[in-house]
Amino acid sequence: MNPELSLPLLLLLLLVTTTRSSTTETTTTNANISSCLLSSHVHNFTLFSSPPSIQYSNLLNFSIQNLCFAGPSVHKPSVLILPKTQHELQSSILCCRFSSLAIRVRSGGHSYEGLSYTAGQHTPFAVIDLMNLNRVSIDSSSSTAWVESGATLGEIYYAVARSNRSLAFSAGSCSTVGSGGHISGGGFGFLSRKYGLAADNVLDAVLIDPAGRALDRKSMGEDVFWAIRGGGGGSWGAVFAWKLRLVPVPDRVTLCSINRPGSVRQVAELTHKWQCVSPSLPDEFYLSTYIQASTSGNLTNSFSGLFLGPNGTAIRILRQRFPELAVSESECNEMSWIESAAQLANINSVSDLLNRKSRGKSYFKAKSDYVRAPIRMEGLITAVYLLSKQPKAYVIFDPYGGEMGRIASGDLPFPHRKGNLYGIQYVIQWKPGEDGMAYVAWIRRFYEYMGRFVSKNPRAASVNYVDLDLGTIQWTRGSGGSWDAVGVARAWGEPYFLGNYDRLVRAKTEIDPDNVFRNEQSIPPLPKGGS
Ligand SMILES: *[C@@H]1O[C@H](CO)[C@@H](O)[C@H](O)[C@H]1NC(C)=O
Ligand SMILES: *[C@@H]1O[C@H](CO)[C@@H](O)[C@H](O)[C@H]1NC(C)=O
Ligand SMILES: *[C@@H]1O[C@H](CO)[C@@H](O)[C@H](O)[C@H]1NC(C)=O
Ligand SMILES: *[C@@H]1O[C@H](CO)[C@@H](O)[C@H](O)[C@H]1NC(C)=O
Ligand SMILES: *[C@@H]1O[C@H](CO)[C@@H](O)[C@H](O)[C@H]1NC(C)=O
Ligand SMILES: *[C@@H]1O[C@H](CO)[C@@H](O)[C@H](O)[C@H]1NC(C)=O
Repeated sequence: MNPELSLPLLLLLLLVTTTRSSTTETTTTNANISSCLLSSHVHNFTLFSSPPSIQYSNLLNFSIQNLCFAGPSVHKPSVLILPKTQHELQSSILCCRFSSLAIRVRSGGHSYEGLSYTAGQHTPFAVIDLMNLNRVSIDSSSSTAWVESGATLGEIYYAVARSNRSLAFSAGSCSTVGSGGHISGGGFGFLSRKYGLAADNVLDAVLIDPAGRALDRKSMGEDVFWAIRGGGGGSWGAVFAWKLRLVPVPDRVTLCSINRPGSVRQVAELTHKWQCVSPSLPDEFYLSTYIQASTSGNLTNSFSGLFLGPNGTAIRILRQRFPELAVSESECNEMSWIESAAQLANINSVSDLLNRKSRGKSYFKAKSDYVRAPIRMEGLITAVYLLSKQPKAYVIFDPYGGEMGRIASGDLPFPHRKGNLYGIQYVIQWKPGEDGMAYVAWIRRFYEYMGRFVSKNPRAASVNYVDLDLGTIQWTRGSGGSWDAVGVARAWGEPYFLGNYDRLVRAKTEIDPDNVFRNEQSIPPLPKGGS
């Protein structure tokens, strides 16, 4: 009954079974996925049952970072599969296809819209969770690393610094973010003005394609290798591992934490100056700011600065270029790069970078923008005034310029390069039992107000701050028909990728013409037989 299925045999079965109808009942799907996984020696999986077992809920919940997608009304995966080798990942993909389950691949679970672990109400699906694929192997002599895509940024940073304290990797600040999704969408962080995005530092990768094959840079071809470095997670296959270029950092770096409470006008004035200064600071200086009101309505500008050099120099630069900040020596401290990574991740110790468990999960909605010309003072005053009335909301301003402005916008799918002064994230967070819809409506109104100051035609957004408000596609109905999926997906394809969207569609058509890897905002292939 359970012959051992080899990968080639599974492939053959797949070819036979994908031609028949995909209507399934939970029970038969379960039976089939179980026997398929077991016969391919994938043992770590947990099936959905009603009610869900504690083990199932714990595993599913573990890396749900946005609680909006954790509740009982959210459609649950039929199975959670946790492969721990490349071969198991290949088998997992083939077994999902064999059982007609849609596939969601989750590394850290930080998709703002839960896209790595949810699917439409009528779509039976599996979550392939990569948390056991988190090995990091460093070659200090060549300054490179191979990392499995379930490794978190914290795990990568820890391993890199341990191998050589003058090496680092350029990626985001939140330590529990998974490298699979993060690098797939670009990966901006505190070293990006010096060294570019995480995706700019990918030298090779192993991608498991829809047929379960493991492809490296050479065998996937340059178009697909281009697409997986910034074209967003979920469209191309499952990245098993990345080969990364590590970058040099000094033994001591300087971290500045500068909080400036103030009136609406004071906060707007500091922000106004910040937007003129921070994109043109030396590449070694990264200075972001964050604005939020307290519940009593008091506003604070919180600046985070990372300087790749001594604190004396950092302070001198800030006093020269940004005297209004009136930085004091005690606000800029020297430490190792890995200590700065822990502090920027807002955790207590360097060893905590290895902790995959997130603290302080919340319900939230986020949106993003790019700014190409400084926002005028009156605009900032109104924006800051609105924020002063809504303490659940905050905005983060991330400076571009430096190396980000020297990489051409078509080099990788991530197009937001030269000419962008900074990126903005708008976030609103709330607690269980509060009226989430009202908060979502608030952030949408705020975003609408900001529209007049930011990039236009299209209004750009970052795929790593994925936002379903830009548009969605429901694949369950008529996905094989003649309707214009490529046109529909322009609604988000162009804001995220600007002029790179059509090349992404071609890469998708090459690697996944049957659209196996898809979600509500994935890149569609060209229709078959079309052009
Ligand atoms: C599942 O397996 C059963 C028994 O092997 C078979 O009758 C059924 O057609 C399969 N269903 C699907 C959806 O593959
Ligand atoms: C599956 O992997 C998870 C995460 O590492 C682990 O907690 C669990 O014990 C594993 N289950 C089995 C059956 O190996
Ligand atoms: C998973 O999270 C949901 C939503 O927060 C909660 O209702 C459920 O009890 C959690 N399950 C477990 C096992 O923690
Ligand atoms: C550590 O990395 C630096 C580059 O930042 C390099 O110059 C040095 O040779 C490396 N040390 C070892 C032991 O590999
Ligand atoms: C708000 O700001 C005022 C004036 O700066 C200050 O006196 C007060 O302590 C602040 N309140 C809080 C809660 O920070
Ligand atoms: C530089 O940092 C060290 C250690 O954090 C601190 O003791 C010193 O006061 C700082 N120097 C300046 C010039 O700020």
